[in-house]
Amino acid sequence: MLAYVLPSAGAQPELSDAPIPTPGPGEVLVRVLASSANPVDDMVASGFFREVQEYRYPAIIGRDLCGVIEEVGADVTKFAPGDTVWGFIKRDHVGNGTFAEYVTCDASRSIAHKPSQLSDIDAGSMGLSAVTALECLDALGLASGNTVLINGATGGVGSFAVQIAAARGLRVLATGRSAPAKKYLEELGAHEVIDWTAGSLADAVLTLSPEGVDGVVDLVRRDRSVIIGMDETPAKTAVAELMTAVLKPGGRFSTVNNSASDDLISRGVGFNIHSEPTPENLETLNALAERGQLRGCVTSVYPLARIDEAFAHQRQHGRGKTAVVIDDALWAATAESIDAA
Ligand SMILES: NC(=O)c1ccc[n+]([C@@H]2O[C@H](COP(=O)([O-])OP(=O)(O)OC[C@H]3O[C@@H](n4cnc5c(N)ncnc54)[C@H](OP(=O)(O)O)[C@@H]3O)[C@@H](O)[C@H]2O)c1
Repeated sequence: MLAYVLPSAGAQPELSDAPIPTPGPGEVLVRVLASSANPVDDMVASGFFREVQEYRYPAIIGRDLCGVIEEVGADVTKFAPGDTVWGFIKRDHVGNGTFAEYVTCDASRSIAHKPSQLSDIDAGSMGLSAVTALECLDALGLASGNTVLINGATGGVGSFAVQIAAARGLRVLATGRSAPAKKYLEELGAHEVIDWTAGSLADAVLTLSPEGVDGVVDLVRRDRSVIIGMDETPAKTAVAELMTAVLKPGGRFSTVNNSASDDLISRGVGFNIHSEPTPENLETLNALAERGQLRGCVTSVYPLARIDEAFAHQRQHGRGKTAVVIDDALWAATAESIDAA
């Protein structure tokens, strides 16, 4: 099968031939239709994760997936060959990823059936981002009518966080730095959009919400090092200052880049989210999609053959998600619709 593979330590990832994996007990073999380029895949490809995870070379990278079950291993009852599924795969090592024509995964946690409301490409681009957005919001324990700030709202995680927050009846303040970003965020459900380049973010938040906000989901990557716990001080200081300025007494925040300090965590104010796929969070997202409250956020689509371009595009912080179509037939249909548009 064709796969995007890191051949050895220090080498660049490349498209190459790899063996089709075999599902073990509790696993399924999925024929992958679509995936997406996440910042973490980029960091994995650069070797950055060597500090925290074993790389099993030749290592196929990629986490998100939508695909069709090809084969089920022993003890799998929830899925059958032919089912279309979506989700994301988180392993304790780098390798066996989803930028491949086939992947095996744990059927009990990584995938759910795909709701008909989502296209294969949208579903293939949601897993990591949407689960992370859900976990960030769940940690805050907000109630309908509360106000939440989504900082870093136009990106992959932010696009889903805005939708989920709006679906929960929250008043959503979201950051975006251009007129098209503002329109995009309003269409997703943001009530107010703040241009984070126009001055003090805290001042802008307090102008819109003078008593402060009940919660903040902070998705901004301030410092490379915070991912692996080396020197987290500058990012933690910046986050603590922002939260002190904008949170109401009793308010909470969640971050995705280890930027909550130990002190704020121990006081129950801050949460460092490290998202995990579970049947519960995938089904919660399915229910939102089925009710029309969660849609895909794909703004760019590339075939597997051009995955390097997908990553180059993702790095520019384009809005929403950058999809990678793995399946040739799906790409042919997609390219035709892009040409026709
Ligand atoms: N811990 C976890 O489980 C987990 C899971 C998923 C993602 N993550 C991390 O979460 C972060 C976001 O992921 P993503 O997929 O959403 O990334 P993304 O698609 O690249 O989006 C990043 C967003 O941050 C915005 N941004 C950059 N600098 C900003 C600033 N100073 N103030 C406000 N907004 C700013 C960008 O807006 P512009 O386009 O305007 O620059 C963009 O909207 C990444 O660092 C990723 O590694 C962690």
